[in-house]
Amino acid sequence: MTSRKSKIMILGFGTVGQGFFDLFNRKKDMPGLNNFSISEIVDMKYGHILNPRPDLVEEIGKGKTFEQKDVVSAIKESDADVVCEFTWLNLKTAEPAYTHMKTALELGKHVITTNKGPPALKYKELTGLAKKKGVRFMMKGTVMAGTPSFNLLELLPGAEVKSVRGVMNGTTNYILTSMEQGKDFSTALKEAQALGYAEADPTNDVDGFDTASKITIVSHILGWNHEFKDLEIEGIRNVTPEQARDRTKLVAYADRSKAYVKPMKLERDDVLSGVRGVMNAIELDTDTMGKIYSMGPGAGKMQTAQAALTDLVSIMKEKA
Ligand code: HSE
Repeated sequence: MTSRKSKIMILGFGTVGQGFFDLFNRKKDMPGLNNFSISEIVDMKYGHILNPRPDLVEEIGKGKTFEQKDVVSAIKESDADVVCEFTWLNLKTAEPAYTHMKTALELGKHVITTNKGPPALKYKELTGLAKKKGVRFMMKGTVMAGTPSFNLLELLPGAEVKSVRGVMNGTTNYILTSMEQGKDFSTALKEAQALGYAEADPTNDVDGFDTASKITIVSHILGWNHEFKDLEIEGIRNVTPEQARDRTKLVAYADRSKAYVKPMKLERDDVLSGVRGVMNAIELDTDTMGKIYSMGPGAGKMQTAQAALTDLVSIMKEKA
């Protein structure tokens, strides 16, 4: 291993990219992270930023822009060891993030992403490529942001997961919780958007596709390999205020033989029935522990940045 610091390239400098940049700078003296530096950033709006200064967010806030550069060329010319892909979600083709990740992996760079498109739609191909190149393809932020979800299994060596259930979409859970309290669907959706939880296109949230992408990713990680296109997906458009009051949640479920997303009426003593507002939760039913749970925020600038930092530390530990 060389003694130089490992370099990080950030693709996409929107909310998540800026959150990660700030968090990294705050935590960079932590053991392990002090072996990394953010060497460059590429963003459609702000351009190609080499050796960014810690006050970059302030600089661009004042209107500073940098030379424009095509993202794929920038990846090919970069000497970064880790590429953090934070561009936008596309659940139809996974582009352009898919091409960015493929290019980086082919060049032997580790990839960290919070973007659900490529892991949900191209999981086998990208993990196969990472394996072939001897690098990691990390995606903690795609499922419940920095709140432990599938990565809980790292703490349970040998445990076999029999099934997974979850409330994995903050927007729909916020809407259902608000409907319980008497608000109508569209007011609650507008509030969730104003809070920054909803995807740009709320269809992904409301019609269950965002949740479906998350349970697909978990299914792949567990080796069940349910494909996104084969999932049974129903969103919350037809849930009535009465059903919402009756503990109806948008539930994601997977086991080895099936995976689906649909609104379900939960029992009063079901832990998932108590997940309120934008909170997310996951239940892993294991052979060794029975059911274990994790609950916390599933979105947000700092919360998603935490997930990318978690992945970075995991890569660092493997290198050590
Ligand atoms: N729109 C998503 C949600 C964001 O509401 O949970 C996190 O994936």
